[in-house]
Amino acid sequence: MALRLTTAGESHGPAVAAVLEGVPAGLALDPAAVDALLARRQRGHGRGARMRIERDRVEVLGGLRGGRTLGSPLLLVVRNRDDSLERLPPVTRPRPGHADLAGMLKMETPDARGILERASARSTAALVAAGAVAEALLSACGVEVAGFCVSVGGVEAATLPARIPALRAARDRSDFLCPDASVEGAMRSLVDAARAAGDTVGGVVEVWADGVPPGLGDFRVAAARLDGRIAAAMLRIPALKGVEIGDGFALAGAPGSAAHDPILPPARGGFPRRGSNRAGGIEGGMTNGERVVVRGAMKPLSSLRDGLPSVDALTGRPAAGARQRSDTCAVPAASVVAEAAVALELAAALLEKTGGDTLGEVRRNLDAYLAAARGVFGRPRRRRRAAGRRGRAAR
Ligand SMILES: Cc1cc2nc3c(=O)[nH]c(=O)nc-3n(C[C@H](O)[C@H](O)[C@H](O)COP(=O)(O)O)c2cc1C
Repeated sequence: MALRLTTAGESHGPAVAAVLEGVPAGLALDPAAVDALLARRQRGHGRGARMRIERDRVEVLGGLRGGRTLGSPLLLVVRNRDDSLERLPPVTRPRPGHADLAGMLKMETPDARGILERASARSTAALVAAGAVAEALLSACGVEVAGFCVSVGGVEAATLPARIPALRAARDRSDFLCPDASVEGAMRSLVDAARAAGDTVGGVVEVWADGVPPGLGDFRVAAARLDGRIAAAMLRIPALKGVEIGDGFALAGAPGSAAHDPILPPARGGFPRRGSNRAGGIEGGMTNGERVVVRGAMKPLSSLRDGLPSVDALTGRPAAGARQRSDTCAVPAASVVAEAAVALELAAALLEKTGGDTLGEVRRNLDAYLAAARGVFGRPRRRRRAAGRRGRAAR
């Protein structure tokens, strides 16, 4: 069954929720692990008052028994502490950069309340809860995913740990979820100055996935290309406006001789190795066995203290965009959402490759496939002898 996610819920409604179909039976799922990811999404220097109000906890209301998935749809609910939806006033002054204006026109209403309540990034709590399930599945299949913040307002991490465990440890010590402590002070000054000025800042998030089997995704059908699916998943995150895989945009200025990753002979019984990973682990729409590297650019948030120039739908006259409670910087939080989004796409592609109603079946199918794929480069002598025999027979 295909992995499929639907989320529901308004920002100030009673809850946000996710229905995740297609998770195989038998996967151990600890709600505390989901809560840990939800708590990370709430972190980050620069968040606004809302994140101080909410204490996100998942309630798994379907698809789980005895701590293991049943193979039926999972229903994941995160209740909102601030559930004031019915008491909130209309919003008639659309904020430039938000969904307000386009949504008012689309929904034929002068009140953007119903639009911003759903367009709000609060819904990413449900996405992150589902992403935690995807991460549990991937981890059970030897794949580890880590998202982090690379830059805030132009202040960029200079060095990153080479491996995911060290990266996670450094990231989790940081108020910006940035694994390079040396830039934290500059990030903090920048965000504090923006907050004092009533302004906002954006930045760049990055996601790594290690242990990804080669051959996930597809080269045969454009819609099945994994790079396209990951890019779409990243751009579905509110305020993410650019995506690159591997060296992405930098490759556009490099000569072909310096833009690709040499293929080196395999270690015994393994896959061919690569001399570099400029492709970010995806070639031809498929994983190639290297680390998957995805980056996303987040724009500065559009709810500004003083409101950007806009028009009031009630009067038709110029007015400042509506003032809403807002973060100054949500790049750290977006790195968690990006981690969840990439994990969901990788888990979906893994299950397409393996099939399987149970985790046991997924793993058996994965092992059998990996053994066959290793054989492609792993038995060159036998293959040469067989080719020789075929040649002699033909003569
Ligand atoms: C984790 C996260 C938190 C966000 N917090 C805010 C916020 O506090 N204020 C705001 O104006 N936008 C915030 N956004 C961005 C808006 O949701 C987004 O800009 C809006 O829905 C319009 O969509 P678009 O920017 O993709 O066009 C946040 C986005 C993310 C991923």
